[in-house]
Amino acid sequence: MKRIWLAGLLALMVCAGCKRQSPELYTLKNASGMEVSITNYGGRIVSVKVPDREGVLRDVVLGFDDLEDYYPERNETDFGASIGRYANRIKDGLISIDGKQYQLPRNNYGHCLHGGTRGWQYQFYNAVEVGENVLKLERISPDGDQNFPGNVKAYVTFTLTDSNAIDIRYEATTDAATVINMTNHSYFNLSGDPASHSIVDDVLYLNASHYTPVDDTFMTTGEIASVEGTPFDFRKPRLIGEGIDADDEQIRNGHGYDHNWVLDTAGDDTVVAAELYCPASGIVLKVYTDEPGIQVYAGNFLDGTVKGKGGVVYNHRTAICLETQKYPDTPNKPEWPSALLRPGETYSSHCVFEFGVK
Ligand code: BGC
Repeated sequence: MKRIWLAGLLALMVCAGCKRQSPELYTLKNASGMEVSITNYGGRIVSVKVPDREGVLRDVVLGFDDLEDYYPERNETDFGASIGRYANRIKDGLISIDGKQYQLPRNNYGHCLHGGTRGWQYQFYNAVEVGENVLKLERISPDGDQNFPGNVKAYVTFTLTDSNAIDIRYEATTDAATVINMTNHSYFNLSGDPASHSIVDDVLYLNASHYTPVDDTFMTTGEIASVEGTPFDFRKPRLIGEGIDADDEQIRNGHGYDHNWVLDTAGDDTVVAAELYCPASGIVLKVYTDEPGIQVYAGNFLDGTVKGKGGVVYNHRTAICLETQKYPDTPNKPEWPSALLRPGETYSSHCVFEFGVK
């Protein structure tokens, strides 16, 4: 009898231990009828429903209907994710802080991309504040998470404003020196119709007279180059398709646009950093940030192998990411704005995605 009781207790304990956390979905709404859904899994924006020029709501981001499709076993994508600890690339996955070297995962062409193989986009965040138009997520990242030093507590606060903007504030603290560079990795297709609309037909403006060239492993070379007379000049709004396949070494290295632009906004988050316009729907997206850089990734690696919402296959360049950030590999380029965070300091970063119509 005693033995049966003990076996039962043991089974219960094992079961409780192996119970998997399930992703939750939170939907923010505003007075103008816009809706943004976010999951605590990876802090991912799952859908963004905004009115087009006719007032019809369109979902303008790629993603999945089933939240478990965001798990890496099913799909290795960064769709909508809150990326940490370090968005973008770190050369050879190596950082050195106060004379100590740390080897991070080398998950992309020998470099560390987006915080490593199991960056925060593949971890659960805790929802610590849930309101009608606000969601605050918390990520407790232990010392040694993906080999980064320091116990880090990070927050991502999404606020949906009545002027149809998704306001995203990032914050983090640490108990040992580390590096932090957070971003949102939404894949935008402002037509709301990724089955038939490619972003090469959209118009882009970038408030940037320089960008950071890369080698053929997508690693920044350390150079800051002028966009003047190159396919990287978006200081006047122009069709993405115009230069994306140009006969240009940097375009070849990036397989199209997959580069960091050096913003001319001087950290002023009231000045437009980027603007994307979709003639098909009339929807405009303006990006504001206090960060010095923005990664424009034009979905060059989408190749029709991922099936998303409504069973739609995501083909080449069906979406574009506008990732506000420190420049890639800043930890190894001391002359660039630093991503170092020390105990007692608070990392903060601000990004606004504001929607409208033309
Ligand atoms: C990178 C791309 C990469 C993509 C994956 C972007 O930020 O620049 O090279 O393929 O993220 O999510």
